[in-house]
Amino acid sequence: MKHTNSNYTLSYYSQLFSLVITLVILSLGSNAYAATGAETYQQVCAACHTTGINNSPKLGDKTQWGKLIKEGQVPITADGYYGVRAMPARGGNPNLTVAEFAAAVVFLANQAGAKWQDPDQAMLKAINDRLAKKQAQAANKKS
Ligand code: HEC
Repeated sequence: MKHTNSNYTLSYYSQLFSLVITLVILSLGSNAYAATGAETYQQVCAACHTTGINNSPKLGDKTQWGKLIKEGQVPITADGYYGVRAMPARGGNPNLTVAEFAAAVVFLANQAGAKWQDPDQAMLKAINDRLAKKQAQAANKKS
């Protein structure tokens, strides 16, 4: 009787164990996915955009962001990622992907009343095309 009981306990624990392992793998998987816009904002952009240092458009400032929102998601995402005047390329973090940067821009714009969404594949392509154009123009100027 005791024997069966401990076998039962053993299989219960091994099932629990594989459940835990599965959950750990799942959560690792979701961590490997790009940071959210809000996280990237906190880690990379907040240093300037929270206080509006060097005339960076301030988080939640509807006048400053209103103009940018009108300009549009593709151009301001591409220009910001490329770098514009005192705005460093990729917010100063060379590891930031276009998608991660774009999500942080969505966060910033939405704090000022926009209803933007993280770009889909088509919009990412438009952003990358604009970036490629800017890079080509810069290369032409140098030569
Ligand atoms: C070192 C300070 C600094 C950091 C860090 C920074 N920015 Fe900026 N950002 C600026 C400044 C300054 C401007 C205004 C540039 C101008 O128009 O002269 C700006 C402008 C922008 C613009 C408007 C671009 C345009 O087309 O006019 C966007 C979008 C933007 N930032 C997004 C971000 C995001 C997203 C991050 C983080 C991933 C970030 N910034 C990090 C300083 C910063």
